[in-house]
This record gives sequence, structure tokens and C-alpha cells, in this order.
Amino acid sequence: MEIDSSGYKNIVYFTGAGMSAESGVPTYRGSGGIWSEYRWQEYACQTAFEEDPQKVLAFHELRRQAVLACRPHTGHDVIAEQERVHSGVTVVTQNIDGMHQRAGNKKVIELHGSLWRLRCPWHGVIEDIGEKYQSYKCRGCGSWLRPDIVWFGDSLDPGVVSEATGAIRNCDLLVSIGTSGVVWPAAGFPQIARENGARLIEINPEPNEMSHLYDETIRTGAGSALPGLFKKQ
Ligand code: OAD
Repeated sequence: MEIDSSGYKNIVYFTGAGMSAESGVPTYRGSGGIWSEYRWQEYACQTAFEEDPQKVLAFHELRRQAVLACRPHTGHDVIAEQERVHSGVTVVTQNIDGMHQRAGNKKVIELHGSLWRLRCPWHGVIEDIGEKYQSYKCRGCGSWLRPDIVWFGDSLDPGVVSEATGAIRNCDLLVSIGTSGVVWPAAGFPQIARENGARLIEINPEPNEMSHLYDETIRTGAGSALPGLFKKQ
């Protein structure tokens, strides 16, 4: 399959953990997945943070170190190049690893937050990049800072959801890459794009419950599927 992206006005790359798998970032589900090694109840929910903020922050530092040891792969580079050659490209990602930005994408909507931000309950969001957090506590008021990530039981930021659904509604091509389609509201995005008449392509080595929604599926990894998918502009 070769796609001429100039034939589409608005293109959304909708990505999940499988997008970063070939960079070496583990996915969440399946064997070797983060949630098979770590109980999210102890590391990825507000209750765990309130019980032991230090343990939760240390877990997220480990994740930052693991991600910093990885590099964007050729599939990320293809999506970044598409944004350079096409004015209507948006990335809507469930990933918190910042890999799309490292590859060069500028229009990235992060549905589930970012490993590179912390949040003070009183002083808002703080950018914090590096292996270790600069401080576990707010320098202004001394409150524990929590990762600015959507954990189990959290609501998504309504502004971010509305920006993402706007992009999905407006797109005429949706390329979904590496998501299991089980976490909502993201799992509903392909259906929204479909209802609005977009062409839907799925890149994922494994089918899932949402796969029937797609017009075409490519059953290989992102790193081999994306190079060569688009006609050179
Ligand atoms: P999952 O871990 O649920 O699913 C990863 C998907 O990637 C699976 O469908 C795999 O088949 C696919 N996959 C694996 N290797 C791939 C490759 N090389 N190329 C393409 N696809 C590949 O990850 P998500 O769907 O992103 O939420 O999970 C959704 C959310 O659940 C995450 O954002 C996270 C998690 O709990 C939060 O942390 C808030």
C-alpha cells in the first residue's frame, strides 16, 4: 500500500504504546508489559500516590530513565517528516514518553499527560526533564508534586479531550498505530473518525476488538510499516 498524503486535508496519527515498542519502551499489556510487572494499584493511581508519594515518584523516575535510554525509531521519523511536508498533520497520542516530540513533531496532543511534567495542587504544572526529578516537592509551598499523568481512576483533561476529538472529527485520514483499543475515551476515537467519513488504517501486529472499524490493516510493527507507506512529496 502507498498513500499519497497530499490527497488528504487533515491527517491524524493516533498512537499507543506499540508505537514506541521498537524504540525499546515496553508496552502496558501482554507479556513483558508494564502492568504485568508492576501492579498499577501501587504505582499509577491517586490512592497509591497519597499513601506513598516517594515510591510512586521513584517508579516514574525509573520510567524516565528507561525512556531516556531509548531513541525514536524510523517510524517516528516518518511521522515527523509527514508533519514537515503536510500542513494538516496532528499526532494524537496516548503515550507519555515524548518520543514524537523528540523525533520532531510539533502538533502533538498528549491524551494521558507526560512523564516530563509534574503538578503541584496549588501552583499548577511544572516542566521537568531529566532522569531524576529536580525536586519531589513544590519549591513554593512544599506540597508533594505528582506526575502530570492520567492514572487509573483519573479523568482526562477536558480541554485536551476536546482538542483531540476536534482533530479526530476533522480528519479525512486516520492512521492508528500500536494501540490495544481498550482504554477509553481513546478507544472510541476510530469510531468517531469513521462516522465522519475518514479513511482508517491500522498498524498493529495483533488484531483487537476495534480492528473491524478499519478500512485497511497492516499487521507488522510500526518501524517496518511506516517507511515506504507514503508517496514521496
Ligand atoms: P497497550 O499496551 O494496551 O497495547 C499496545 C499495542 O501495541 C498492542 O495492541 C500491541 O499489539 C501493539 N504493538 C506491539 N508492538 C508493536 C509494534 N512494534 N508496532 C505496532 N504495534 C505494536 O498500549 P495502549 O493501547 O497504548 O495509560 O494502552 C492505552 C493506555 O493504557 C496507555 O496510555 C496507558 C495504559 O494504562 C496510561 O498510562 C494513562
